[in-house]
Amino acid sequence: MVDASPVTPSAAVMGTYNRFPIALLRGKGCWVWDDQSRRHLDAVAGIATCTLGHSNRAIRKALTGQLSKLQHVSNLYQIPEQEQLAAWLVKNSCADSVFFCNSGAEANEAAIKLARKHGHQKRGIERPVIITAAASFHGRTLAAVSATGQPRYHQGFEPMVEGFEFFTYNDLTEFEQLLERLEQNGPRVAAVLIEPLQGEGGVNPGDPDVMKAIRRHCDARNILLIFDEVQVGMGRTGTLWGYEQLGVVPDALTLAKGLGGGHAVGALMVRSNADVFEPGDHASTFGGNPFACRAGLTVASEIARRNLLRNVRQRGDQLRAGLNRLVERYPDQLAGSRGWGLLQGLVLKDDCGIQAVDVVKAALEEQLLLVPAGAQVVRMVPALVISSREVQILLTRLERALVRVT
Ligand SMILES: Cc1ncc(COP(=O)(O)O)c(C=O)c1O
Repeated sequence: MVDASPVTPSAAVMGTYNRFPIALLRGKGCWVWDDQSRRHLDAVAGIATCTLGHSNRAIRKALTGQLSKLQHVSNLYQIPEQEQLAAWLVKNSCADSVFFCNSGAEANEAAIKLARKHGHQKRGIERPVIITAAASFHGRTLAAVSATGQPRYHQGFEPMVEGFEFFTYNDLTEFEQLLERLEQNGPRVAAVLIEPLQGEGGVNPGDPDVMKAIRRHCDARNILLIFDEVQVGMGRTGTLWGYEQLGVVPDALTLAKGLGGGHAVGALMVRSNADVFEPGDHASTFGGNPFACRAGLTVASEIARRNLLRNVRQRGDQLRAGLNRLVERYPDQLAGSRGWGLLQGLVLKDDCGIQAVDVVKAALEEQLLLVPAGAQVVRMVPALVISSREVQILLTRLERALVRVT
């Protein structure tokens, strides 16, 4: 039976998001236009996805070309674009092989399965445990959200998937105590799954010394160290991978967001010691399809051709310097800034009466798109192609937004 009453389009979408009241219709580079023809500077880049900016020429050309050739074939066949992207990732990282999927949560699901199999096979553990950090974010599927150390994401969805234990990010003593407790009667821990820098959790950079010590503990016990690079990977921090910022090499890393430059591509990348998957162990209908991998290949070649890592470092320094000037100018409201490259957070004081979402809303009035990271941090993740002038505009509009809310 077809319902004859009129449908309100926005009410037809399930209410899983609190959406800001604008509709974005087109974009170019770091700019987007809404349905009132207002032009906004996009310091969110999709949501850390549009690595090369909106409507990028190279992406457009490569993907329209791919559309006229082949969009999707099953992983039952060899897929040259997938092999080429895997080869690029392997050549340019610590990994030896890659599994493709479509999102960050899926990449972490694959990593969790890999870790459990490693635990069973290589450490003889019956019920393997994965250690993750408090305030982490690993995605919204049931296992990924169970791995996420933020109770607010668990509420209403219990029981969580078992086998995750949490420690305070960057607290080595707590990590060591947890490890000792879990392993006091023999092997229990299959892996440590951790973000090199916590994005959603408040733009918290990892402490290199803590991460190096965790690496040593993992080595000593044959525990896998898995980095969730979904947000920091693919050049966002000024190095291709977040692990390079820490001087720590993981056994596996997960990737999504920026890899496809705005298209759905996720990946689990593993070193040979962690490659316990065999045919039939894991799969994805859309994972690694020619269209998605063409997008990834284009992002990869443009990062190299345009020397975008240098731009990320330079623009990141400019952005951080500008944020620090704001911190000096608004000492009652701002506690500081932190981040790497083009993943920066402006930290509001806990007791200043303003929350990150207030600043984000005020910035929208100034035609600047920003995103909160937790209650007190305003996050900036612009496209890696952002120019010096655009960073300046970002800072000017951000200051005007701060003036609005203070
Ligand atoms: C570190 C990290 N891991 C995983 C995810 C989940 O990725 P997706 O939304 O593509 O499933 C995110 C998304 O924000 C993330 O920041």
